[in-house]
Amino acid sequence: MASLFADYRPDDRGTRVPVVVRELAEWDVEACVALAVQRDGGEQAAWRASFERSLHSADRRTFVAVIDGGVAGYATAGWFASSALSPGSTIPDGWFLLGLVVDPRCRRHGVGRELTKARLGWLGERTDRAWYFVSSANRASIDLHTGFGFRLVASDVEVPGVAFTASGQLFCADLPR
Ligand SMILES: CC(C)(COP(=O)(O)OP(=O)(O)OC[C@H]1O[C@@H](n2cnc3c(N)ncnc32)[C@H](O)[C@@H]1OP(=O)(O)O)[C@@H](O)C(=O)NCCC(=O)NCCS
Repeated sequence: MASLFADYRPDDRGTRVPVVVRELAEWDVEACVALAVQRDGGEQAAWRASFERSLHSADRRTFVAVIDGGVAGYATAGWFASSALSPGSTIPDGWFLLGLVVDPRCRRHGVGRELTKARLGWLGERTDRAWYFVSSANRASIDLHTGFGFRLVASDVEVPGVAFTASGQLFCADLPR
C-alpha cells in the first residue's frame, strides 16, 4: 500500500500538464480500483462495486483525470446521508466531496485541483453548499480545498464508515448557483 497522504510540501510549486477530466466510464473502473487498492487497501470487489454504483446513481458521480490516455486519478461527489448510516451523527446530511486519489506518479501537476473543480461544478447544479471531511493530518488535501473556499466547520467529527488517522475535520464551502 502507498502512504495514505502526500508528504506536505508547501514550499514546492507544482507544474501543470495537460489533463482531461471527464465522468467515469465503465472502461475506467479497473484503473480506479487499482489506484484505490494501492492507496487504501481493501478488497478489489468492494471497490469495483463502489465505482460501479457511481456509474448508475443519480445522486453520485465519479470523475477521472486522464493524462496521455491513462487514468491519473479519480474523485467522487454525491449525496451523503450519515443520519441513515448512524442515527445521531453530528455530520449533516448533504452534498459532499467523497474520495479523491491521484496516482503518486502524477501528483503536483494540478490533477487534484481539476478533479475538484469538476466535482464542484457538478455539485453546484444541485446545491449552494458543499461539504467534505478530512483527517487533520492531511495538510496537502486541506490546502488544495482551501483554495476552493472551504472553511473549517468542526473538528473531532465522527463519520460513519471512516477511521481517521488523526482528528476528523468537517469543512464546507458556499457554491455559486
Ligand atoms: C491530496 C492529493 C489529491 C493532491 O493531488 P495533486 O494532483 O497532487 O494536487 P494538485 O497538483 O492539484 O495541487 C493543488 C494544490 O494543492 C496543494 N497541494 C497539493 N499537494 C500538496 C503537497 N504535497 N504539499 C503541500 N500542498 C499541496 C497546493 O496548494 C497545490 O497547488 P500548487 O501545486 O500550485 O502549489 C494527492 O496528494 C493524493 O492523492 N493524496 C492521497 C489521497 C488523499 O489524501 N486524498 C484526499 C482525501 S480528502
